[in-house]
Amino acid sequence: MVTAHVFIAISLDGFIARQDGDLAWLLQRDNGTEDHGYSTFIADKDMIVMGRGTYEKVLAFDAWPYDRPVLVLSKQLVAEPVPEALKGKVRFSSLAPQQAMAELAGQGVHRVYVDGGQLIQSFLREGLVADLVITTVPVLLGSGRPLFGSLSQDIDLKLISSQKFPSGLVQSTYRVVP
Ligand SMILES: NC(=O)c1ccc[n+]([C@@H]2O[C@H](COP(=O)([O-])OP(=O)(O)OC[C@H]3O[C@@H](n4cnc5c(N)ncnc54)[C@H](OP(=O)(O)O)[C@@H]3O)[C@@H](O)[C@H]2O)c1
Repeated sequence: MVTAHVFIAISLDGFIARQDGDLAWLLQRDNGTEDHGYSTFIADKDMIVMGRGTYEKVLAFDAWPYDRPVLVLSKQLVAEPVPEALKGKVRFSSLAPQQAMAELAGQGVHRVYVDGGQLIQSFLREGLVADLVITTVPVLLGSGRPLFGSLSQDIDLKLISSQKFPSGLVQSTYRVVP
């Protein structure tokens, strides 16, 4: 069985990026002096699954930041070749979340870091997310790309831990109640 795990930063009003994808509001507060636990989080993940929106943003970074294989779920990208520099590191797939997870299970993958607001919403709706580490940045953006969206029924969460940082960031870990 493969489980999906979320590690993401949001504005206090629930956005993961401005509408145009801007992340400066986040990056200016995360200047590397605080350890927000990413290394510990990623240590037991076999794979990263992300949406096209997240992949396209990360592509614009100076360097590819991941040391795990990345599966990008996208109907648009699946028809394109993976960029030369990312061959062996990235795959494109148009599978739906359940099918993608089943394929990964067949490849011996157990724990997946799922990233991207729309993709996380799909994984949550499909009951694929086991837990979420959400770091809340003390800023109100007013609008942007939301982490959460509509649901056909409530998803109950159990708060596992919560911690505040000197910068004002608050990090909470929730387990999805099955
Ligand atoms: N604050 C943070 O910690 C954080 C973390 C990650 C990302 N971000 C930011 O968030 C933005 C990207 O997030 P996003 O919510 O806009 O997009 P996203 O979830 O990364 O990608 C959405 C795209 O993924 C594809 N997709 C494939 N299967 C899907 C499915 N089952 N459900 C939903 N989408 C699916 C679709 O593209 P196709 O039409 O090609 O199929 C869809 O348009 C970027 O600006 C990124 O920098 C912030």
